[in-house]
Amino acid sequence: MSLAADFTQQEVPTHVAIIMDGNGRWARARGLPRMIGHQRGADSVRRTVEAAVELGISYITLFGFSSENWRRPADEVKDLMGLLRRYLKNESKDLKKNGVRVRFVGDLTRLPQDIVQQIEVAESLTAEGKSLTLTIALSYGGRQEIVRAAKRLAEKVERGELQPSEIDEPTFEHELLTLGLPDPDLMIRTSGEIRISNFLLWQSAYSEFVFIEKHWPDFSKEDLALAVAEYQRRDRRYGTTTDSR
Ligand code: IPE
Ligand code: IPE
Ligand code: MG
Repeated sequence: MSLAADFTQQEVPTHVAIIMDGNGRWARARGLPRMIGHQRGADSVRRTVEAAVELGISYITLFGFSSENWRRPADEVKDLMGLLRRYLKNESKDLKKNGVRVRFVGDLTRLPQDIVQQIEVAESLTAEGKSLTLTIALSYGGRQEIVRAAKRLAEKVERGELQPSEIDEPTFEHELLTLGLPDPDLMIRTSGEIRISNFLLWQSAYSEFVFIEKHWPDFSKEDLALAVAEYQRRDRRYGTTTDSR
């Protein structure tokens, strides 16, 4: 079955961002360790990337690990880093084969050095990918990103390269980690939580939100297609009236 078949008449979102939540609760509901939930979550990532290519989505951004997730128990953080190592090692070649360009955003300086190197390898290996740009947010926080941008602008002013009066939305956006990515059209969160948890705060100003009850390990290709269908029923007004557009 081609997932794209249903969408030929309507606009597919260019950029879909996903807060992949609920791995721990998925595992707990089955009496399994949280790590199994994270492993099954990695399978969902694989499926979702495939589905995004099939649906003709151009950009997908996944929240993999937040700035605040560093506060989790050391064992869980270690397990998650191990899973990330495995993902990078196993998936990079397939991503390249499928025309997926992968990039990472976040404070990568906090990650173990070998993972930083693997990230660089994966980014350069897949740099020519044209079918989909997969951005993985790791050690990422929207507030931290905004503070970093403000600091970089202040430094430019200090060096005499920029006048404060020249600071506008494009100059600010230029300092964000997501430079080059369009804003997300559709933001999905799994596991029934209805909050943004410090993800893409600036970029989601006009995103359409879809909240799904299922936990991330159960998120299927069909669920992505349903979220896209829900997006297509929304009327995006950007502050205008329906008539004036
Ligand atoms: C999402 O699942 C994965 C990460 C945040 C790393 P959780 O680990 O947050 O799962 P719950 O929310 O505890 O169920
Ligand atoms: C958000 O999920 C971060 C990721 C999905 C990586 P959390 O599980 O960390 O968010 P809260 O703590 O429930 O807000
Ligand atoms: Mg959670």
